[in-house]
Amino acid sequence: MRLLEQKNLEKIGIVASDSSETRAKLLLEEEKELKVRAEEIIVIDTPMGEVLGVLRSGSGVNEALRANAYRPSVAYAKKGGVPSGAREIYTFEIMVIGVLTENGVEQNRMIIPPRSNVYIFKPGVSNPLEHVARNKPVVWNACLEGHEDWRIPFDSSFLPYHIGVFGATGSGKSWLTRFVLVPVLLESGFKVLVLDWSGEDYAPYYKDKAVPISYLRLDEEAIVRYILEKAEHFGYTGQARDSNPVREALEDYVSRRWEEISQKSSEEMFLDMKNHLENGVRQSSTREDFKRIALRRLEYGFKKLRPIDLEAVRGSLSIEELVEDLRMEEKGLRVVDMSLVGSDEKLSFFNSLARFLEEGMELGESLGVALVIDEGPQYAPWEPKGIQYESTEHIKNLCALGRKHRLCIVLISQGIAGDIGINAAVRRNLNTQFFGALHPLDMQEADNWLKPYGIQREYLLSLKPGQFYFVGKANPSPIPLLISFKPVK
Ligand SMILES: Nc1ncnc2c1ncn2[C@@H]1O[C@H](COP(=O)(O)OP(=O)(O)OP(=O)(O)O)[C@@H](O)[C@H]1O
Ligand SMILES: [Mg+2]
Repeated sequence: MRLLEQKNLEKIGIVASDSSETRAKLLLEEEKELKVRAEEIIVIDTPMGEVLGVLRSGSGVNEALRANAYRPSVAYAKKGGVPSGAREIYTFEIMVIGVLTENGVEQNRMIIPPRSNVYIFKPGVSNPLEHVARNKPVVWNACLEGHEDWRIPFDSSFLPYHIGVFGATGSGKSWLTRFVLVPVLLESGFKVLVLDWSGEDYAPYYKDKAVPISYLRLDEEAIVRYILEKAEHFGYTGQARDSNPVREALEDYVSRRWEEISQKSSEEMFLDMKNHLENGVRQSSTREDFKRIALRRLEYGFKKLRPIDLEAVRGSLSIEELVEDLRMEEKGLRVVDMSLVGSDEKLSFFNSLARFLEEGMELGESLGVALVIDEGPQYAPWEPKGIQYESTEHIKNLCALGRKHRLCIVLISQGIAGDIGINAAVRRNLNTQFFGALHPLDMQEADNWLKPYGIQREYLLSLKPGQFYFVGKANPSPIPLLISFKPVK
């Protein structure tokens, strides 16, 4: 042993036949099966150095007890006797993390010799993940499952390559975000903006940092689209939705009169808008018969729209001010509480925010902002409809621009793919993932990510709340690690 001290290690077995440079089988010494658990970090002592690995897929074999044929020991067991355990072997699959060097852990390219000794770290010794994190810009948080004192390194240079958090309901996604991801982002120098879809998961815990969505002023485009949605596009369908006299009059109204009128009550706004739109249509340069149709549609639309609908789009705090405030603060954090308004309003706000951030980045700004989007499928579902179309496009753009301009997107979702998941084009932008207990429908997709690393489906179905596999770019270990965390008050 060269870099690790022998006194910190405990031998548990040797490498069995059929090893390669990326995996090996561990043959446990007697009774070590009572002690050594899957997901443990081990060291293999090889002539080319110490190789770190993770244990997965344990198995116990007793050839004398194969149940599908007659054998004396099987017959003996049938009578209630206890057959000999002498021929029992216990094995684990070792997934290789890399070989230890002075500069940290590097990819292992040599075949691991069978018969090499395998060790675990004794309790209380320093965190072996420190070797994995050496020379990388990491921040530490959460812990390796089963080792509360071994914290997990997060490579902060890869945070702007975006993060996905996946797990069935109750798997602990929102808690992981609150107790682990938000602190990691803040410590890495990002200012964090959380979009709390229901206002229940974040806003109550960051009271003085929460901003109700109704305080915020949307951009003109978002206001127009919102009103159009609420008024059912004034009965226009197909291409006519994008270009018609009512819409033109509305755009004109919002750009010229909105600021002034939004001081008034919603009822007054409603009547004022109706009058202006009627006049606008009458004065437009379209043919008389078209005007008559437009006026009828206007009437129809205003039956669908109610004064109370306007409450959601008359806030006065601009998105610019919100982001500016956030960026001024040391470890700035804001939670937008999106409760009390419908999905269209929430997405209108998101689209305004996205346009603002995109503009900044297109002008070459480095944002240093992390945007946490819980309930991801509401914004970018498998098959976006209506206003989700735009929000999905915006998320894609934000991800693409964000990599160069220090914007980190954290997207949280109950499902990965298909009906319950998030849009495939968005998903491929998330280069770090956390997988908690998953819905069986998502097993196929999760297998694509985790099976190559020896992680069994049964494990993914039965993870406890707060246990997640940490996979991808921000994980300095090339092999996914099972992490957990303690909620701190
Ligand atoms: N690290 C943890 N330790 C102990 N309990 C936890 C931990 N993480 C989560 N839990 C438990 O799991 C519950 C659900 O967590 P959380 O609200 O984060 O789930 P979720 O995945 O966001 O669910 P949903 O998809 O429904 O929003 C928590 O209320 C808490 O009781
Ligand atoms: Mg949640």
